[in-house]
Amino acid sequence: MTRATRSALLALSLVTAGAAYAKDESDGEALAWKYHCMTCHGRTGVASSDHYPNLAGQNPVYLEGRLRYFREGIEPGNRMNGHAAPLSDEQIRILATYFNRPNAER
Ligand code: HEC
Repeated sequence: MTRATRSALLALSLVTAGAAYAKDESDGEALAWKYHCMTCHGRTGVASSDHYPNLAGQNPVYLEGRLRYFREGIEPGNRMNGHAAPLSDEQIRILATYFNRPNAER
């Protein structure tokens, strides 16, 4: 393989990876994974431990409001503040919809 071919292939694979990443951004599961939400709230919104709230089945509008509240840092020291800080309005909406899953199992 020539050097030019190799760099053309590398450029192509980067473009393809970028497209896949952009798609995943709108996918709630990918976002929940990326921002580690699953560590505490579980893959399906059923908490991994009694110390964390279950999100599954909760109203999405309420979950959105809670995430915006954490993002603003209204309650200093709340453990959720740092997790919500990097989220955009759109990501909050997607995550709230993702975790509002009726009949989720652990
Ligand atoms: C280190 C564990 C941990 C991680 C990681 C985490 N959370 Fe939380 N989450 C908590 C705790 C603890 C609370 C309870 C905070 C409170 O209500 O004061 C909470 C509360 C919430 C609530 C409000 C639930 C309710 O009933 O009011 C939502 C929504 C939420 N988390 C979503 C998320 C999302 C989305 C992510 C990822 C961006 C995330 N959490 C990451 C521990 C975590």
